[in-house]
Amino acid sequence: MPLLLFTSPKGGVGKTTLAAHTVAILAKRGHRVLALDLDPQNALRLHLGVSIREEAGFLGVIDHRPDWRGLTIDTPAGVRLLPFGSVEPRRTLQLGMALLDAPELLAAPVRDMLAEPSLIVVVDSAPGPSAAVSAVAPLADLVVVVLLADAGSASLMPQVASGRVYGRGTLAGRMADRTAVVLNQVELDGPLSAAVLESAAAALGSRLLGAVCRDEALAEALANRHLLLDGSGAAAEDIVLMVDAIQTRAKLAPPSGRRSSFSALADWGLR
Ligand SMILES: Nc1ncnc2c1ncn2[C@@H]1O[C@H](COP(=O)(O)OP(=O)(O)OP(=O)(O)O)[C@@H](O)[C@H]1O
Ligand SMILES: [Mg+2]
Repeated sequence: MPLLLFTSPKGGVGKTTLAAHTVAILAKRGHRVLALDLDPQNALRLHLGVSIREEAGFLGVIDHRPDWRGLTIDTPAGVRLLPFGSVEPRRTLQLGMALLDAPELLAAPVRDMLAEPSLIVVVDSAPGPSAAVSAVAPLADLVVVVLLADAGSASLMPQVASGRVYGRGTLAGRMADRTAVVLNQVELDGPLSAAVLESAAAALGSRLLGAVCRDEALAEALANRHLLLDGSGAAAEDIVLMVDAIQTRAKLAPPSGRRSSFSALADWGLR
């Protein structure tokens, strides 16, 4: 089943915030979801309401070939999660080297996750290139690149659009086809923000998946350990629209439970 990868060449742009909301909204809509954290900051768990004292994780022991099923935790946000785990910096470097040498350490269990019927895997990642992202990117159905509506992000847009952020040649072209961009922290009353949004829309066309406005409610939600899931509020509404676009782009079928409750529609030729 589908893999959605949140990534960015830049840090602090909202990858974890948007990945956490996406996975929780999909769960609320009745999908079976699994959140996977590839970032040694191990922050996705905090967005999903897990205690900071929870130190266990999946990526942090990936070189021991762990069984991922035994390491998932149920989060207060109603989402199953494979956290990175709390890992010392030196060990993080060792894990990166191990994954560079053997991407299958991660690719094999992720393929196993994707073999689970109707399970959607939503992946959060560290900023910039990493061995973990290289291992899973070829398996992604949709790569959501999060950028800001600022000059730094605008300068990266051509690389993102052509796939050159992933390297060169055929692989980069293949990744570009599956890449979509979300602009975060957009301020429509700011001339720079509005100009970047406009030129991104022109350059990316339908590959601009959404725009999320700058809204302190998002930062405050994290401080209060909850997510903005009901679409009320400026950023919350933008995020719901972004998830709608992700569902369309990744061709996520409605969850089977929902479909069966409207089974008569098939008889009427409506499905
Ligand atoms: N649309 C927004 N409006 C206001 N604040 C936001 C918005 N999106 C994210 N933030 C805030 O920006 C900060 C960075 O967000 P987040 O941690 O999700 O970024 P990231 O890309 O995952 O960072 P990193 O590269 O370190 O992993 C957080 O404090 C978050 O609450
Ligand atoms: Mg993050």
